[in-house]
This record gives sequence, structure tokens and C-alpha cells, in this order.
Amino acid sequence: MATTSKLAPAQRAEELRALIDEANHNYHVLDAPEISDAEYDALLHELVTIEEAHPELVTPDSPTQRVGGAPSSEFPPYRHEVPMLSLSNAFDEEGLRAFDARVTRLAGVKAAYVCELKIDGLAMSLRYENGRLRSAGTRGDGTVGEEVTPNVRVVRDVPRTLRGKAPGAIDVRGEIFMKKSDFKRLNEARAAAGKPLFANPRNTAAGGLRQKDPRLTAERRLSFFAYAIGAFEGLEPPQTQHALLAYLRELGFPVNEHATRCASIDEVMAFCKRWETERESLDYEIDGVVIKVDELELQRKLGYAGKDPRWATAYKFRAQEARTKLLDIGINVSRSGKLNPYAVLEPVSIGGVTVRMATLHNEDDIKRKDIRAGDTVVVHRAGDVIPYVVGPVLELRAKDARVFQMPERCPVCHSKVDRPPNEVFSYCTNVACPAQLVERVRHYCSRGAMDIEGVGDVLSAELIEAGLVRDVADLYDLRTGQLAELPRMGEKSAQNVIDAIEGSKSRGLARVLVALSIRYVGSQNAALLAAHFGSVDALAAATQAELIEVEGIGEQIAEAVAFFFQQPPNRAAIERLRAHGVDMTAPKRERAATGALHGKTFVLTGTLPSLTREAATELIVEAGGKVSSAVSKKTDYVVAGEEAGSKLAKAQSLGVPIVDEAGLRALLG
Ligand code: IVH
Repeated sequence: MATTSKLAPAQRAEELRALIDEANHNYHVLDAPEISDAEYDALLHELVTIEEAHPELVTPDSPTQRVGGAPSSEFPPYRHEVPMLSLSNAFDEEGLRAFDARVTRLAGVKAAYVCELKIDGLAMSLRYENGRLRSAGTRGDGTVGEEVTPNVRVVRDVPRTLRGKAPGAIDVRGEIFMKKSDFKRLNEARAAAGKPLFANPRNTAAGGLRQKDPRLTAERRLSFFAYAIGAFEGLEPPQTQHALLAYLRELGFPVNEHATRCASIDEVMAFCKRWETERESLDYEIDGVVIKVDELELQRKLGYAGKDPRWATAYKFRAQEARTKLLDIGINVSRSGKLNPYAVLEPVSIGGVTVRMATLHNEDDIKRKDIRAGDTVVVHRAGDVIPYVVGPVLELRAKDARVFQMPERCPVCHSKVDRPPNEVFSYCTNVACPAQLVERVRHYCSRGAMDIEGVGDVLSAELIEAGLVRDVADLYDLRTGQLAELPRMGEKSAQNVIDAIEGSKSRGLARVLVALSIRYVGSQNAALLAAHFGSVDALAAATQAELIEVEGIGEQIAEAVAFFFQQPPNRAAIERLRAHGVDMTAPKRERAATGALHGKTFVLTGTLPSLTREAATELIVEAGGKVSSAVSKKTDYVVAGEEAGSKLAKAQSLGVPIVDEAGLRALLG
């Protein structure tokens, strides 16, 4: 994002104010933001920087001096007795430590904090008098918002009457939001009814609250978390933020369960880092962590700087979404012949990573979301998940945006494309399609299969292009001289590839089965089959009924395996591999009840120091255990390595034991 400008500071400040005012209006009043939160933050940050360097340029109506946009006139105004505040932001550890240093300096003591998840919804103030809900208003500009009482009354989480010891009057503040699961359900229902889809939970919640008919609000199933109070009359209020949260819970409000009291800024930092990686595991969207000084007396002492409290700040996570141009929709043909549409994007940085490509799932999804080449699209990238296109920004649609059409012929071999009934994918109908061959060769050589270093997608394609490989077994006929003639290949690297190919001969049956691209046979099923049959001959001779008898092998897999070995070309390929000395046997093991991991289910996540995912799976399966892809209450262990993602978070939230590679080896004995 460009934050440098050739304009004089005064002019640039004016320009920034206009941009920010418009963004505020679009966001708060129209519920139709035009720029991302990150872009907004950058504009504001630039303005703050200019105003700090040139205090004479600060105007009373500068966006840095007030909160949000003016309320729209559609709803009656709602005046806040105690203003609703905004928060200063910290974008990194340095910013957080600077906040703590200022608190310590002004307070004269080390303060304790409460960390709360920053829920990505809409701030709401709820007025209760004598224990009954009287009115509800949005934040608006912090002093005057919009009255949306009838709509808030249909939000199930908002109690109509308070429980326990209620004060004479209280303003309860919190966030109205939409759960991801409710958002998904709503969009599925809309898709089924042929209605346009909503873009994200936040805007859907905002739109829901602004309905003229509360029944429409109710349909969106909004949720609420309480986290603060405004006016409070008739009782002694709690003395700390954590006691306040407990009190709000007693009154009958949902309070987020993850709020944590932290004795030091190091603990605060750990909390922020933890939730930045685990945010995906939650059923609601968060965009940061709110850090509040715990002692309310100390909060009063620290006071405000403009509209921002000095006793609180928001640690903002890195962005997960950005807008960019969808240059084209490409088609990739997989080794099973599946045509996968993907987005070719104008490169865009999301959370510090440059994204050029994103998945588009399938034809139906593209149609449902009405994604067209030439559109400005929103792209989402989170942790270890492949970036995907959320949807188009319809207001910015260009006239020449092109509607997507699934090709009728394979883009690689031009054979006919078939879309089987009840499937969302289309397939190339030519088994000899070079795209499938490239993918099959690449897969054969990949780390989880025969692990032949140096043969990736580029070399696989070149080998096929040059006519040197027509089948995976041809790899074993390659000679150094032939390889050395390929582009960017010297004698030395050619020899390395030949050595790697030679080395692959002793990987054993389980890896060969993975490498052969048999439908449904990944590392887990391959390990089960290899351990049960012990040799490719025994496996190839097995009937479907015999295959089903193997523990863990179901009907669908059995059918696919039997089908594979019935095909003469596949049998021929196996004979050729055998002739080249590829080992296709495995130590035959009864998966007896004596295996160290018998009956235990594992989930693998992240990168382990010395084991590939396949090798770890093999070890677990050989010891009688099972490997599953999703964490649930039934999972016995999660094996976590570097950069473990949401599965680790899920395990933590469910209390599933977590081990590292050393822990796994210990379990294996
Ligand atoms: S406290 C000074 N706590 O973030 C107190 N705000 O940028 C200000 N928000 O308008 C609010 N979760 O809409 C607070 N646990 C939380 C929050 C939270 C989300 C939102 C809220 C506020 C904005 C501040």
C-alpha cells in the first residue's frame, strides 16, 4: 500500500481526511465498505503520523479526533449517556510494549491486564432499567448512534430481563456478530433458493440489524458477547475488568470464555500470538485482541488521549483478506484427469505473503458466486490453507468482465470433457492425457511417494515433452546423457537425478502403492494394504471381498483397488517396475491387538523434524493405530510439528493430548 505521497503535508492530510471520512461512511452507515480494514488502518496511520509531525494541522473534526461515521437517518438517534469509545491500535510486539511502557510510566506501577478476543462484529449498547431491556443503540459516532431496539430484541443471546442482582440502570456494551456456522447455513439456504450470497459474517450481521422488519433480523440468527458497561446506577460496580466480566455473566449475558487476566506484557504477548494462529478454530471471526488494564480505578486514573482510552489498546492481527484483480481463470488438469479451475491474480500481499494464485473450488461455486475474469475479487488467505477467492466486488465490476464457461475439451489434450451426474467436477476422458501423465510422474516422484529428489513438475513435463517418459517405469530406463541434454541440466545434476531414481527402488510396497495413483489410496490405506498382503502379487490377486476384510478398508476403496489391478496396462506397468528391480514387498504384519498403538486414532499437523507425513502414517498404522484427517473428541493424540495450524488449536480446545515427533516415537516404543 502506498503511504508515500508527493503532496505537501497539509494537502495530503486533507486528502486523507476525505478518504477516511468516506470509508467511515461506507462502513458505518452504508454497511458497504469499499476498502479493507488494513487499507483503512494504513490511511489512518499515515494521517496520525502527519499530525504528530505537524500538530498545527490537526483540525477539530479530523477523523483522528472522533469515532466512526454519522448515523443514517433511517433509525431514530440514540444518545449514549457515557460515550462509546474507540481504541488505539498496536500492530506488532513493539507497539504492544510501547503501550505497556506508557501505562507503567503514567500509572507508576506495573499494571495487570485482561486480554479479550476482539470480536469482528458491531458494537452495541443495551440499556436495562430495573432489570428489563429498555432500548438498544449502535455506536454511531460514539455519542449518538441509531436506535435499533426492536431488532436487538430478536437476538436470542440478549436477555430481555436480567438475572441476579441487577442495578437500577445499566448500559451493557458488547458485540453483535454472526457465527461462522450460522453464516454458512444462511448462505447455503440462499444458494439453494437461487439468491445472491452474502460476502462475510460481519456485513451480514450489520445488514441484519438495519432491517426495518425485525423478523428479517431474526432470520440471520445473530449472537452477542458482552464486554463492558457504560452508565451504572444504584449499586456498587465491580472493581476490576475480570470481576466485571464475571458480573455480566451472572446477569445472564454471554461473555467470551477466552478472556484471560495477564500479570505481565509477556503474558499478553503470548496470548496475542496464540490467538493469531488459532483464530481459525473459533466459530466466530476475530480481528485482534483487546488489552485492558484490569483495575478500574487505574483505568480512571489513566484517562483518555482524545477519544482513545490510555488504559486499553487493540492488537490487530495481520490481514487475511485483500482485494485484487482476477486476471484470468485457468484450468489445471490433475493426475486423475480432474479439471480444476484456479484464479490467476494480480499479485497482492496478504498478511505479508504475496499471493498470485488462488483456488476457485469448482464450476458450481464460480457460478453461484458469479465470479468473472476481469472482476475485482476478495481473496482470503489463512495459515496453511490454500488461498481462495471469496467472491467478486460487484460494485467494481468492469463491463468487459467475462462469465466463466467450463471448457468442453481438455485444455491439454483436447479430448472431450465429461461431468458425471451428481458430481461437481469435470474430467478429461482421455487416460493417456499428457497432463495426467505429467501429474502422475510428478506424484510418483514426490516426497510422500517414491521420494525422487529433483523430479518436480518442471522436469516431469520436460521428460514427457522430450518423449523420454511415457509411463512411470520409463524413469528407470533414463541415462545420464539423456538427462544432461535437457534445459538447465548439467552432468552433475543429471547424475544426481539418476542416483535418486536408483535409490527409490528400495522404498517398499506401501510407497509404491501411494506412487501408483490408485484412487483413494493415500499413505494410510497403502500402509494397511501393504502390511496385510506383504507383496504386490498377493494384493493384485485379492478379490474385492478379500480386500474388504482388511481392517480399515471399505467397499469403495476395495472396489477401486481391485479395479486398478484388473487393468492390463496397470499390470504391465507393475511388471516393468519389477523388471527394473523396484521392491514391491513389505514386512507382512498382522495388525494384532498387540500393536503398541492398537485402537488409537492420531491426527498429524505441521511439519515434523525428521518424518514425512507418510512415514509417520506408516509407523502409526504398522503399530495398529489409525490416522485421521480431522480432530474430534474421539482423537487420542494430535502429533504436532512446526507451523501446526488449526488442528492444533482444535486439539487444545477439546483437551486432546498433543505430542511432538519424540513423543510419537516414545508411544511407538
Ligand atoms: S472494548 C475502550 N472489547 O472493537 C473500550 N471492544 O476498536 C472499547 N470490540 O468498537 C471497546 N471486541 O466494536 C472492546 N472485547 C472487546 C471487543 C471490542 C470487539 C470492538 C468494538 C469496538 C472496537 C474498538
